Amino acid sequence: MHLGKALAEPTYSSYLQIGRLLELQRPLSAPEHPDELHFIVTHQAMELWFKVMIHELTRVQQYIAEQSWTQAITKMRRVNAILTAQTAQMDTLGSLDPQSFLGFRRFLGSASGFQSVQFWALELLGGIRDPAYLNQLRRSYDGDLPPILAKIVAAPSLAETASNAPRAAGTGDWFDVYANPECHGPLFLLGEELIEYDRRWFIWREEHMLLVERIIGPGQHGTGGRSSHYLQHRLHHRCFPFIWDVRNRVTETAATQGTETDLTVTGAIHRSNGTHLSQQA
Ligand code: HEM
Repeated sequence: MHLGKALAEPTYSSYLQIGRLLELQRPLSAPEHPDELHFIVTHQAMELWFKVMIHELTRVQQYIAEQSWTQAITKMRRVNAILTAQTAQMDTLGSLDPQSFLGFRRFLGSASGFQSVQFWALELLGGIRDPAYLNQLRRSYDGDLPPILAKIVAAPSLAETASNAPRAAGTGDWFDVYANPECHGPLFLLGEELIEYDRRWFIWREEHMLLVERIIGPGQHGTGGRSSHYLQHRLHHRCFPFIWDVRNRVTETAATQGTETDLTVTGAIHRSNGTHLSQQA
């Protein structure tokens, strides 16, 4: 039977919708500034990668809840690789000099990365949700979060799911995992990927801040009205403080026990009270 064109083999172009994709870069400067195309593509690429990161982090959360450690670890590793690749892509804008940016900046109005809903989705999904932060975010949306953000806030964060993971798996808490990595291999490796996520965001934020200072100057305000001081303040947001904190506790416990050697060998650590960690998410 001849099935006709509808079921024809996809081509590279039809599968990836290249025609539509390449239609989406619309510089606003008039006459068109030759550096604006690069500026647009860098931001569009960021949004595409954010989309994949949200998708993958949602899966990671599900895998952790199901205790499918191999999947959780490999997908978290993918997210981390994307974050590093994205930081490198942002670096390509280091080639935009101040004068060239001024050539098209006024056409952007108050449009800013600060208005990236997917950026906030990533932060909220990860677990950055303290009340001051949420209030500030609500204010920036005149009180009502966009549906995608409201839906994320209504559900547990990845940090909450991860924080409870060792207990749910019946293996103590994160302190036990880090005190005895050999006994808790999958959870330990997951913890290392989670801390890597926070670390790579720190690098992203730092690189972005330096890019901003390089292009508009450290004392200037962005199109969204904020300065590099604001970006400096945001450097230290972490999704998984309990994975950082557990390192403090391992180090402090070793110091109290008078040993800084292998805790599992010395038997210095058996259990922890656990409350400290579960309160952190
Ligand atoms: C000419 C280059 C850039 C300048 C001058 C710049 C400037 C700024 C400034 C000053 C802010 C704070 C809010 C504001 O006042 O606008 C900001 C926020 C932001 N920018 Fe950029 N940016 C640039 C490029 C980029 C690129 C390439 C990306 C992504 C690949 C990006 C993503 C973001 C995001 C996600 C935020 C929100 C960050 C937060 O609130 O913590 N920006 N940008």
